[in-house]
Parts: sequence; structure tokens; C-alpha cells
Amino acid sequence: MNIVLGIETSCDETGLAIYHREKGLMAHSLYSQIVIHADYGGVVPELASRDHIRKVLPLIVEVLEKAGLTLQDLDGIAYTAGPGLLGSLMVGASIAKSLGVALSIPTLGVHHMEAHLLAPLLEKASPSFPFVALLVSGGHTLLAEVTGLGCYQLLGESLDDAAGEAFDKTAKLLGLNYPGGPNIAKIATLGKPGQYKFPRPMTDRPGLDFSFSGLKTAVLNTVNSVANNEAGLEKQTKADIAYEFEQAVVDTLVIKSLRALKLTGLNQLIIAGGVAANIILRQKLEQRLAKINASVFYARPEFCTDNGAMVAHLGYLRLELGERETCSISVRSRWSIADLVPPSVN
Ligand code: KG4
Ligand code: ZN
Repeated sequence: MNIVLGIETSCDETGLAIYHREKGLMAHSLYSQIVIHADYGGVVPELASRDHIRKVLPLIVEVLEKAGLTLQDLDGIAYTAGPGLLGSLMVGASIAKSLGVALSIPTLGVHHMEAHLLAPLLEKASPSFPFVALLVSGGHTLLAEVTGLGCYQLLGESLDDAAGEAFDKTAKLLGLNYPGGPNIAKIATLGKPGQYKFPRPMTDRPGLDFSFSGLKTAVLNTVNSVANNEAGLEKQTKADIAYEFEQAVVDTLVIKSLRALKLTGLNQLIIAGGVAANIILRQKLEQRLAKINASVFYARPEFCTDNGAMVAHLGYLRLELGERETCSISVRSRWSIADLVPPSVN
């Protein structure tokens, strides 16, 4: 297994990449549908799948060109098989399987969150197993002890909203566009510290689970009371709220990550998923982990959010170890009529 094409179509990004056994990541291309969904304040599944159909083939051509390869050079194809939007996942899966059959090469459906989790291994400075992983995306927030490929011991997870979801919902409250994370982070740089006070949920009790819905409500209450006084939010007020909200989420993630390192006795932490692109989170973790002689690792920002590179990389790792899937497109050259059975109705 030398060269693997990765296809990511689980949500609102069409991501393609090529991973090479010795050269590592050879090329990647990404098309974001953000503009298409912006007016709706979130991803519209039907629009997402239709746009993946439009973009996936041109992007395959583009990524092959960037790598100086042709389809015939591929040894395997990996695609995101879930979790994600069904229609969008189907686009990647059917393209991957069709190409696999046409080229007589293996395909493999991979887990979107596992791909995120291992994306920091694409970088030069990356840890070897074991390590603790903090996975913070739009749909998931979890801490896991990672002892090998596919060996994930769940230490804690969000009981309600994911960290990215909290960013997105809070952004909406502040009248900012989707996706909320980058937009909150941007205006937070203009915020004055100490104007508002938000909770660090579930940090005052033991355990590694998270809960972000209370924090969102705290922001809502603040927005409502300030809006009553000011007839709408002023730009500086929004920035001040965004600043304190970001600090509250980051503090909560940092406290729990430190707790997870202590519990497992490990000194390496990986952060992955869209929220891992957050600069304040990276800075605070670096400062706090340095004090306990531990290290934090992350992928470059474009590989924290959805992308094809993480799928090509994980696909390569698993295909290389011999993992294969059966092709559900099934026909037979020899087939006795005596083997037939009556139709079964489910
Ligand atoms: O991993 P991802 O691209 O998609 C999922 O698998 O969910 O994560 C998207 C999430 C969104 O909620 C977005 O607001 C958040 O990641 N995000 C950020 C930042 N960039 C993206 N959150 C905080 N700070 C950022 N810089
Ligand atoms: Zn994702």
C-alpha cells in the first residue's frame, strides 16, 4: 500500500488528499460550502449533498494533478463512512467504491472522529502512542486515552452540547455568522477582559465529562439583560462577551485535559477537531502543560477542521495493516438457479 486517496464529504466540506507511504501527504484540496449555508445559520443537509456531487470529481482531478499522479497510481481509496450527514456521506462512499471497482483497488470507509483524532500525526512534531486526546469538534467533545490505532479508552464526553456547537450557538446569539468558532475568536481579540463573568461548567466536581449548555444559557441571559439596557448589542459589548465566553470554554477544556493527564499518568496530549484550531486554547494548553513537563500536539489549523488529509492518512494506516472491506456492489459469474431462495421481506 503506497498511495492512498482520501475523500471527506461528511458535512459541509469536500476534502480530497493523497497520502504516500514515504513522502507523507502529497497534495490536498478543500472546497468549503460555508457561503451556501450561511443564510440558513447552519448546514442544510440536502444542499450539502448536492454540492458534494458537483465538487467531488473536479477535486479528485485537481488533487491528482497537484501530486503529479494519475488514477492508475493509486493503491487504495479511503472515504469517511460516518458519523455525518447521510446524503453527504453517500456521495463520498459511492464515488470511492465505484473508483475502487474500476481500478481494482481496495477501498475503506473510515470513522470521521478517528480521522480527526489522528490528524496531528500528519505533522513533523507528533507524539507516539500512548497519549491523551481531547477531541473537540462541532458534534463531539471527548477525552480519550489512546494506546494505539483503534484503541480509544473513553475518559469523558459532553453530556449535552459539543464545544464547537456552543461556539456556534453563542455566535448566533451575538448575531455572528456560521461557523461561530472562528468568528467568536476573531471579535474576542477586541474584547475587554472582566466585563462579564461566565461559569466553567462541571469543573468544581470530579470527573471528566463536559456540559456546555449552561454556559450558552448564561450568555443568553447576559445578552438579554444587556440588550434591554442598550437597545441592541454594541460592537464592543459583543467583543467583551465573546472574549469571556471563549475564556470560559478554553479554561474548562484545559482543566479537564490536565485532569485526564494526571489520571492516566501520561505526559502527551493531542488536541483535534475544529475547536483545536482555537489559538487561545493552544496557547493556554502550552503554558499549563509546560509547567508539568507535558507536551501538547495539534495539526495545522486547516487540518483541525474537516479535510481530506486526515482521511487519506487514516485510510493509509488501516489499509497498510491489511484492513479491507467487502464491496457491496456484488455480481457473480457463476450462479446456479438452484441456489435461489424466495424473496425475504423485511
Ligand atoms: O471538526 P469540524 O470541522 O467539524 C465537525 O466534525 O464537527 O468542527 C467544526 C466546529 C464548528 O463548531 C466551529 O465553530 C468550530 O469547529 N471551530 C472553532 C474554530 N474553528 C472552528 N471553534 C473555536 N475556535 C476556532 N478557531
Ligand atoms: Zn469534523
